[in-house]
Amino acid sequence: MTERPDVPVITIDGPSGSGKGTIACKVATALGYHLLDSGALYRLVALSAQTSGISLQDAHKLAELAHDLDVRFDSNENGEERIWLGDEDVTTLVRTEETGAGASTVAQISAVRRALFERQRAFQQAPGLVADGRDMGTHVFPAATLKIFLTASAEERARRRHKQLKDKGLDVSLAALSRDIEDRDRRDSERSVAPLRPAKDARILDSSGQSIEAVTQTVLDWVANL
Ligand code: C5P
Repeated sequence: MTERPDVPVITIDGPSGSGKGTIACKVATALGYHLLDSGALYRLVALSAQTSGISLQDAHKLAELAHDLDVRFDSNENGEERIWLGDEDVTTLVRTEETGAGASTVAQISAVRRALFERQRAFQQAPGLVADGRDMGTHVFPAATLKIFLTASAEERARRRHKQLKDKGLDVSLAALSRDIEDRDRRDSERSVAPLRPAKDARILDSSGQSIEAVTQTVLDWVANL
């Protein structure tokens, strides 16, 4: 599937805990656009592998899993994203640090990335799409209308993630979380396929010390001035 020049795409890439998911969701809602949470797809591959006893080193089986994923996204009554794997609601399960670490392992396998590529492209539907991840602007939507690389200091990202998990009832130590985030950043930036880096034409947005509302407004101002 080729990119469609008639349907605008806003890509928001960046490291773990930079706030991409939250900002992407707010921007998509404000613009009435579709939302692609590409990280969830990698997380779902890791989660399905775990439940079906497939090793995270088995590239062939993992690519098959990625190709056949029976995933559905919708939202609950508060407008929060919900994720279904078959008829199971996996919204909470998919967010654990364990699944995140598994996701960054399967994300290193190029056959898995290829299997997810078309699935991601298919999200480009009218009136527009906000896509968040690591390689949205560099690989999946290289012709995107607006590319953003969202960052924040490592300490702030760990703190935010900690709060996010706590709010979801998941208990993790801040120190362990900082280590996980550093490990994941390293794996994501150093891998040979689609490493985490800003697209050449991306605008860098540092969200350290900024509220969700302020960052969302910056993005919406950029969209308005395109
Ligand atoms: O964004 P999230 O934390 O849900 O992503 C989980 C993992 O999936 C990341 O650490 C990364 O390894 C992988 N990923 C990726 N490419 C994307 C989105 C996520 O490699 N576009």
